[in-house]
Amino acid sequence: LENGLALTPPMGWMTWQRYRCNMDCDSDPSTCINEQLIKEMADRMAEDGWLEAGYRYVSIDDCWMTKERDAQGRQVADPKRFPSGMAALGDYIHGKGLKFATYGDIGAKTCQGFTGFQGHFEQDAQTFAEWKVDYLKVDGCFESPKDMARDYPAFGAALNQTGRPIVYSCSWPAYMPSHCEKSDHCMDSLVEHCNLWRNFDDVQDSWDSVKSIANFWRRRNASDEMVRAAGPGHWNDPDMLLVGDFGLSPSQEQTQFALWAIWAAPLFMSNNLRDIKQSSKEILLNREIIAVNQDLLGHQGFCVGGCDGDLRIWAKPLVGGETAAVLQNLQEGGDGENITLTMAMLPWKSRRIFKARDLFAQQDLGLFREELTLYVHVNSCRMVRLSDVIEMMV
Ligand code: GLA
Ligand code: GLA
Repeated sequence: LENGLALTPPMGWMTWQRYRCNMDCDSDPSTCINEQLIKEMADRMAEDGWLEAGYRYVSIDDCWMTKERDAQGRQVADPKRFPSGMAALGDYIHGKGLKFATYGDIGAKTCQGFTGFQGHFEQDAQTFAEWKVDYLKVDGCFESPKDMARDYPAFGAALNQTGRPIVYSCSWPAYMPSHCEKSDHCMDSLVEHCNLWRNFDDVQDSWDSVKSIANFWRRRNASDEMVRAAGPGHWNDPDMLLVGDFGLSPSQEQTQFALWAIWAAPLFMSNNLRDIKQSSKEILLNREIIAVNQDLLGHQGFCVGGCDGDLRIWAKPLVGGETAAVLQNLQEGGDGENITLTMAMLPWKSRRIFKARDLFAQQDLGLFREELTLYVHVNSCRMVRLSDVIEMMV
């Protein structure tokens, strides 16, 4: 969507994966969805280096609202858990230099059964603009997939009419039979009407979930419709990061972060920033990997070698003719294997002599000719940036 927003993949924090729809604030006062949780995360984002690294959206997913509209037909926040209201919460977030993001549903109800936008597009868009919302995730529960081609653009038009710049995240392809690939014919509409879109299943806190998402992404190459759809203002969204949660080992956390970075994916954490392991924090705050994700060319990386097997190579072209690559070992036993990236694998102009830098170790690896071989442990990856390439003299 050409609205001047999301020129690089949006970064932030979102409630859903970690906190779900926990509304029991009596039993779980520190992990239920309420304004206290949001304020505490906003404090941590502003004070602990997250905002400086680029994480700026604080996103309240499902379950902030009521099941009935108010007397004027407006959406309202649950008065018990959000006693100050959404506008005041937005002010608090903005006061920290952060951006205010939230959630709704294009259908009759949200996925958890709260009020949806159906029949109220203009009124709801106006309400979000009045609350000074900067980013809206619009889900697709309780809506027939065949109506989405009409309703997602229509709600986007209502947002545009408010005059407030609001990043528009659509869950549309996640609900289509072929995820907006060939037979659904929605990829072009997504690029035109949405800033980002959820392509595939919800991420869960497990390595199996990350693998199944990666298996959907690995089938793409340079000419794939989904790869070509990504760019400044319009991004494919593989869903939230699990880094800092419970399901991934440290090397699997690195791998999820490396893959999301090379895919030019939105980087939304869903973790407890009040209490996060140092190793997880180091992964999420790795500036060199964030720079690959936020590269201004905005190309989505894809699998260039070994895509059907356990030793995979992913690559992404960067500004200035540089290249980022992830060498991933998916084997589940043993110690590791060498993986070789050759320049011939890259479908863009690449030179024969290049310098490589290891982005997790933050170490230069030296000069290489034609190919780079790295030892990669099982269940792990290595991520490199290839640069300062010199033309061979003939
Ligand atoms: C759907 C979405 C999730 C989350 C939940 C909330 O499943 O895909 O990301 O927003 O709804 O109910
Ligand atoms: C790489 C490693 C060596 C050895 C060989 C085996 O070159 O650096 O130590 O393990 O692979 O193929």
